[in-house]
Amino acid sequence: MKDLFGNALLDYQNGNYTEDLVTSTSISSEDILPLPYLFRDFKDMPNLEQKALKLAKGSVLDVGCGSGSHSLYLQEKGLKVKAIDISKGAIDVARQRGIIDAEEKNLLDETESFDTILLLMNGTGIFQELSQVSEYLSHLKSLLKPKGHILIDSSDIKYMYEDEDGGLWIDTNSNYYGELDYFISYKGEKEIPMKWLYLDFKTLKLACETVGLNCELVLEGEHFDYLARLS
Ligand SMILES: C[S@@+](CC[C@H](N)C(=O)[O-])C[C@H]1O[C@@H](n2cnc3c(N)ncnc32)[C@H](O)[C@@H]1O
Repeated sequence: MKDLFGNALLDYQNGNYTEDLVTSTSISSEDILPLPYLFRDFKDMPNLEQKALKLAKGSVLDVGCGSGSHSLYLQEKGLKVKAIDISKGAIDVARQRGIIDAEEKNLLDETESFDTILLLMNGTGIFQELSQVSEYLSHLKSLLKPKGHILIDSSDIKYMYEDEDGGLWIDTNSNYYGELDYFISYKGEKEIPMKWLYLDFKTLKLACETVGLNCELVLEGEHFDYLARLS
């Protein structure tokens, strides 16, 4: 990983904001990911994220924290927060923004236990592909304190396969439709392509059942997105 995402966060944090990230996927063309959005405060967060932050309690693990926006809010509310991310740049920025416990770490290498685990901004993306969901969910479950919970958001992206007549062009012989290749570029440089998973609620719930997690729908967003609570 070249960490272009982290470089972009560092540029923004250090007052060198000149351009945004450009993203695209295996099923969609180029889109702009504005850097200020990655530094959003509570009032600019989607309802699903606000709801997740309101439900957070006790000791919190913010997985894939990015610049640390969610962690910062909870830390300021007095909660004990640990923020982790595989991006070195993201962790540098989270520390600069004042996150006391921020660590460059892969979720699968985390070993402490928590009352709340947050995975936000399509949290299921971190699982990368359907075949890895059980492994990630089992690991997340092992990090929960008694009565702890996991708050995770995602979307059912079936709508992205709809043609103008409302027909679906999903290839039923290929992989799960929420498995995408994700491409990022920044300042003309291309990041190594990564896998990014969108999970519809029903599939997430089924996967949770196989590892002994209870999965409830907390809130639905305006565009096929949802927040789930696993316990
Ligand atoms: C879409 S960004 C979300 C950032 C932040 N949560 C937000 O809402 O602004 C996803 C983040 O997850 C991080 N990430 C991806 N895989 C990870 C893993 N296995 N463990 C920890 N972080 C991971 C990426 O580096 C990236 O910062």
